[in-house]
Amino acid sequence: MFNNNTNKSILLTGAAGFIGSNFVLYFLEKYPEYNLVNLDLLTYAGNLENLKECESNPRYKFIKGDICNRELVEFIFNEYDIQGVIHFAAESHVDNSIKNPGVFVQTNVNGTYTLVDVAKNYWMEKPFTCKPEYKECRFHHISTDEVYGTLSLELNDLFTESTPYAPNSPYSASKASSDMIIRAYSETFGLNAVITNCSNNYGPKQHDEKLIPTIIRKALAGENIPIYGDGKNIRDWLYVLDHCKGIDLVYHNGKKGETYNIGGRNERTNLQIVDRICSILDEMIPVSNSSLKSYRDLITFVEDRAGHDRRYAIDATKLENELGWRADENFDSGIVKTVAWYLRKYGINK
Ligand SMILES: NC(=O)c1ccc[n+]([C@@H]2O[C@H](COP(=O)([O-])OP(=O)(O)OC[C@H]3O[C@@H](n4cnc5c(N)ncnc54)[C@H](O)[C@@H]3O)[C@@H](O)[C@H]2O)c1
Repeated sequence: MFNNNTNKSILLTGAAGFIGSNFVLYFLEKYPEYNLVNLDLLTYAGNLENLKECESNPRYKFIKGDICNRELVEFIFNEYDIQGVIHFAAESHVDNSIKNPGVFVQTNVNGTYTLVDVAKNYWMEKPFTCKPEYKECRFHHISTDEVYGTLSLELNDLFTESTPYAPNSPYSASKASSDMIIRAYSETFGLNAVITNCSNNYGPKQHDEKLIPTIIRKALAGENIPIYGDGKNIRDWLYVLDHCKGIDLVYHNGKKGETYNIGGRNERTNLQIVDRICSILDEMIPVSNSSLKSYRDLITFVEDRAGHDRRYAIDATKLENELGWRADENFDSGIVKTVAWYLRKYGINK
């Protein structure tokens, strides 16, 4: 229980991870009328260090546990009288989904089913009828643009909300399945649910295994910077705080049962990303190893990821036109802030 029981309690899942931890701090500060409960299993990807800034906030509560644990999820709904869910928890790394797909199905599919089913039972009397005190309650499912599959490098086409799903990796297939479960709960039971499908995020607190932290870490260590295949795969990069602002808008103002794409119109090849980061580092911390002219000399092409999608790019027109969302950062401004954050993390003051 929270002491402040005039506040609404919202359940966030997986908020010890990259996006969720950025979101908690943004949301706590913006909405003093909410209490936030964070249910996170603290897998290798979750880190309570990400939440140091709010650990003693009386409106924030951390619970270590699995979203697949129905008893625990039911306990949390009852104990905190949960009136909204924003569901981030997932296995999120494509490479891991190729090595070990089972845990992706377990967490991303079964976990999402458990959460949405408990929410429906707690908030609703019967299909299309909410309990009177839970009329406003909403389930917001956080998903990815990877559910749409891949775009061609040659065309300028974009993923819209009506692009057919065509997931290619076990990760994207598990996220696509979870989206379908949410859709079914909206269509069959009339649950007040929304889905956002976002492009690649970058920014502070991302796990070391992902592309941008890997480039920075390897460069600073003077080690080879691994780039898959020919480095020409394209992703549409969004600064994590812009994603948080999009989630906020859709959670509060999105239409029930709808999905919204979130993306920054910042398409970059992996080669462009590594090149930009190396030039920022060259300026901030010139290489000390005399055999290198630039951190660029560390770039090494490695065997491509199996089934590597060539290009993702989001059309965010619906979110922009209907809810007034705009990304505040472009890639050039966001990446400088991001590199500066990782330098502080790695103990380099610049
Ligand atoms: N990172 C991106 O670029 C990106 C882009 C679009 C969408 N998404 C989606 O956003 C969400 C968050 O992504 P992220 O990058 O912050 O992921 P992350 O891997 O950094 O964090 C995931 C969090 O979920 C927790 N978790 C994992 N399994 C759990 C379980 N069974 N029960 C409870 N908690 C569990 C982990 O401990 C971790 O804290 C995911 O649903 C992901 O699919 C991510």
